[in-house]
Amino acid sequence: MIRLFGICVALGSLFQATLGLNIPPITSCSSLVATPPDGATLINSTATERYNVTYSGPTYNGLAGSVNICDVEVFLTHGDAGDAVRFAIYLPLDGWNGRWQGTGGGGFAAGGFDFELVPAATNGYSAGATDAGVNLAGDTDVWYNSTQLVENFVHLSFHEMTLIGKDLSEKFYGRKPEYSYWFGCSTGGRQGMSEAQRYPEDYDGIFAGSPAINWDKITVAGYWPLTAQRQGGEPVPLCKLGAMGNASISACDLLDGAADGLISNPLKCGFDAKSVVGMEVQCDGNTITTITERDAVVWNKIRNGFTDESGKFLWYGLQPGANYQNQATQSGFLISTQWIRDFLLRDPSLDVSNIKQGELVDLFNESVSEFGDLWGTDNPDLSAFRARGGKILTWHGWADDLISPLGTVDYWQRVVDLAGGEEKTDEFYRVFMAPGLGHCGNGPGPQIPTDNLAPLIEWVEKRNAPETILFSGNGQSRNICKFPKELKYSGSGNVSDAASWGCM
Ligand SMILES: *[C@@H]1O[C@H](CO)[C@@H](O)[C@H](O)[C@H]1NC(C)=O
Ligand SMILES: *[C@@H]1O[C@H](CO)[C@@H](O)[C@H](O)[C@H]1NC(C)=O
Ligand SMILES: *[C@@H]1O[C@H](CO)[C@@H](O)[C@H](O)[C@H]1NC(C)=O
Ligand SMILES: *[C@@H]1O[C@H](CO)[C@@H](O)[C@H](O)[C@H]1NC(C)=O
Ligand SMILES: *[C@@H]1O[C@H](CO)[C@@H](O)[C@H](O)[C@H]1NC(C)=O
Ligand SMILES: *[C@@H]1O[C@H](CO)[C@@H](O)[C@H](O)[C@H]1NC(C)=O
Repeated sequence: MIRLFGICVALGSLFQATLGLNIPPITSCSSLVATPPDGATLINSTATERYNVTYSGPTYNGLAGSVNICDVEVFLTHGDAGDAVRFAIYLPLDGWNGRWQGTGGGGFAAGGFDFELVPAATNGYSAGATDAGVNLAGDTDVWYNSTQLVENFVHLSFHEMTLIGKDLSEKFYGRKPEYSYWFGCSTGGRQGMSEAQRYPEDYDGIFAGSPAINWDKITVAGYWPLTAQRQGGEPVPLCKLGAMGNASISACDLLDGAADGLISNPLKCGFDAKSVVGMEVQCDGNTITTITERDAVVWNKIRNGFTDESGKFLWYGLQPGANYQNQATQSGFLISTQWIRDFLLRDPSLDVSNIKQGELVDLFNESVSEFGDLWGTDNPDLSAFRARGGKILTWHGWADDLISPLGTVDYWQRVVDLAGGEEKTDEFYRVFMAPGLGHCGNGPGPQIPTDNLAPLIEWVEKRNAPETILFSGNGQSRNICKFPKELKYSGSGNVSDAASWGCM
């Protein structure tokens, strides 16, 4: 569509009038057949009307209702690879809002399907998901050594889904989607950033929550909490890690001006766990134990991040306020285990549960050198996406316990350096760092909006760029600040209320 400033007033009001209205189908659902993109071959394409489709459970791209859709199920293959990639495209039978929404997955699952498709269709989008041709249970042992399946998972399948979904929207409603949006968190966030970096024409707006960019690094570094916890003796009990975490919150809570149990900017938190050596902790409800020097060293190692044995920094750690217990469990972080076992060591039968620091450093090196280019998704050059007017919105929880939020800060800084400063970057890429928020939600702090796409749509369609985003939950609300600004208590008013806080 045309978005030149001179004529956007007239056209803008025209689009405003059509968007949000019911754009009816011009053809029957059953007549729809997907057209395979270049390089792919159609296995089959089936279109079926489905009524009162619902999804129960929490959602994050709008509330799910009961929706009537044309469900187009498509399978594609590539050359002689023998892959069968599934695509589900949901086209609302009534109330299409003129927008396409591509949705992403989590961990080693490429798509969430009904979890995101039903809310999207309920809210009037035509929407799609794909399994990349790999199983949704995330069993990487059956696909790690297939070049085609890896390409599908890393970048190709959701690009193809976008082409198919936009094309089917046009066939069904008689017009191209006016706007296209990506929605995803974690792996879904990485997929969104892959679209911006590799296929900048696909989307007008990309929502990339807690993005798993830096994939080659976070997968190996995700094992570090477990390795660190086991160094120098018996594994440090999880409750001790939790107690030191609580002590870090107590030590740094007031830095933002208010005792709210949250650290607004962990980068300013100078807490050293050695300051609580000797503190008594009640584990398992009864046993009293004492924080030792070694316990403190381990907590500090998880916080300060993954290093080699000489202390050289390799990747960022989890921040004070995050739940360190999750990655320091006996079985290890599953994504890291699978990555190390299947992709790096290429032997799904291996037990990798006792990896030592030196081995982990070697694995990190191998991961970066062999997989960084393909899997990395941390290319800071967003110039093509920016030039076509695209916008990217990211939030990341400071209390993310799976993907260090500092990887997002690091990427933001690299984009800023390349794009010519913060103001220039603000024009197309904005990041919001949320205190007390876990991975894609959870954590003790205010929680993510019900419709995380709403601020992005305001930005793309009305040029109303977000300065803050309202998060609410756990009895608190905050207008989360555009990074690098941070929350500061105003000095008066209920500390639980967003209105009592400003950005500085
Ligand atoms: C389409 O192909 C896939 C992959 O071979 C298969 O699993 C599925 O059953 C087929 N669907 C139909 C409707 O034939
Ligand atoms: C869908 O739900 C509506 C309202 O509850 C009902 O009237 C209708 O019969 C349902 N349609 C089907 C196909 O079940
Ligand atoms: C790929 O891995 C699977 C499972 O480990 C194995 O059965 C198969 O032989 C491997 N194929 C190649 C080409 O290495
Ligand atoms: C840490 O604080 C949380 C929240 O107050 C509490 O539920 C938890 O039991 C504490 N953990 C320890 C080990 O003291
Ligand atoms: C591998 O690890 C060593 C030890 O920390 C480091 O000095 C070196 O730069 C790393 N190499 C790569 C390619 O990351
Ligand atoms: C502060 O706000 C919270 C959340 O809205 C509320 O539960 C609490 O009662 C308020 N406290 C006071 C003193 O008004």
